[in-house]
Amino acid sequence: MKKNNQNNTLNVLEIRKDFPILERKINGKQLVYFDNAATSQTPQQVIDVISDYYSTYNANIHRGVHQLSQEATDKYEDARQTIQKHFNAKHSHEIIFTSGTTHSINVVAHGFETFLQKKDVLLVSAMEHHSNIVPWQMLCEKTGATMEVIPMNNQGELDMRSYEMLLKLKPKLVFVNHISNALGTINPIDEIINQAHSVGAAVLVDGAQACPHIKSDVQNLDVDFYVTSAHKMCGPTGIGVLYAKEKWLKKLPPYQGGGEMISEVTFEKTSYAGLPHKFEAGTPNVCGGIAFGAAIDYMNAVGFDKIAAYENELLSYATKELLAIEGLKIYGTAKNKTSVISFNIEGVHAYDLGTIIDKLGIAIRTGQHCAQPIMDFYGISGTARASFAFYNTKAEIDQLVTALKKAKAMLC
Ligand code: ALA
Repeated sequence: MKKNNQNNTLNVLEIRKDFPILERKINGKQLVYFDNAATSQTPQQVIDVISDYYSTYNANIHRGVHQLSQEATDKYEDARQTIQKHFNAKHSHEIIFTSGTTHSINVVAHGFETFLQKKDVLLVSAMEHHSNIVPWQMLCEKTGATMEVIPMNNQGELDMRSYEMLLKLKPKLVFVNHISNALGTINPIDEIINQAHSVGAAVLVDGAQACPHIKSDVQNLDVDFYVTSAHKMCGPTGIGVLYAKEKWLKKLPPYQGGGEMISEVTFEKTSYAGLPHKFEAGTPNVCGGIAFGAAIDYMNAVGFDKIAAYENELLSYATKELLAIEGLKIYGTAKNKTSVISFNIEGVHAYDLGTIIDKLGIAIRTGQHCAQPIMDFYGISGTARASFAFYNTKAEIDQLVTALKKAKAMLC
């Protein structure tokens, strides 16, 4: 199937054929799916991999001498290598399979208990998802460490001068998202990482919202921890990864105890397995891991440069068209942002807006987007959020604009 035109742009109509769900009708209308930041849709190529796994080689891994177990083990470890190459990790054992971004962050937060003391400082950005706030607060409660916040401006950009000042506190760890799920801001993570390292702080980057748009190179970034979920990038839910530099994985204690993460167990003592197994207790999500690899292959075949260029076009077009609606305000107007638009229409509750346009077949997210501090910063209870993927079209954005105008007329 030809995914790219000769002029090197995406052939979106061809790409859409890969996504069976886009054929779906909602309330008798053709689905317009603009909730990609919550979860992306799954192409047939990935669905086929999932179906093939359960139809032909479903087995537990790393445990069986039988053929099915060996096939499943090989494919699972192949997927780990696909993910390693995609993120340019130095070693495949630096890729730890987890259930997703939240789990990955919790592994690191749990492990850092060993390294922290009372009076240690951690830095968090003002635009984090709850998953990159709460595990650290729990860690601070246990250790007596404190968390300082890197502020942001009204555009939803981090205040880098304040960041420089906060680094004088010599934090142990900085955690920041690569892209904000609620605002779409692309944070200057290279700069954040370099500056943190200059004062000896480690950095964890939440890449959940970046991975569908940007191919990150963890060695080039020199990031200590990079975490993400497959379902944000055309893979299934319930699977993600923690990338960590080998030196950290050697130092961090395991998050969970159980089968497969051990070297030897007696009633007196247990010694742990080598990497990556030390962090992968229990039967893993075998099919999910394999499908994650397939999703990465799919997205690379489409091409990240082309995806970024096309999504930028969608973002500019949607921003212009939405701002033409009287009373509509966009939250998150950073110079460097991705295809996520959070907005409110004066006099209309975001929830009502989302409910009405759902009746017209259009799926968006409404509420706080698991980022209450951002909503508090703007003094609002929530927003409506339209988030675009490379399989969306300008015609769909036109439908959104028409639907919003209808909803506004009904509600105002
Ligand atoms: N973090 C996801 C979102 O932004 C669920 O919608």
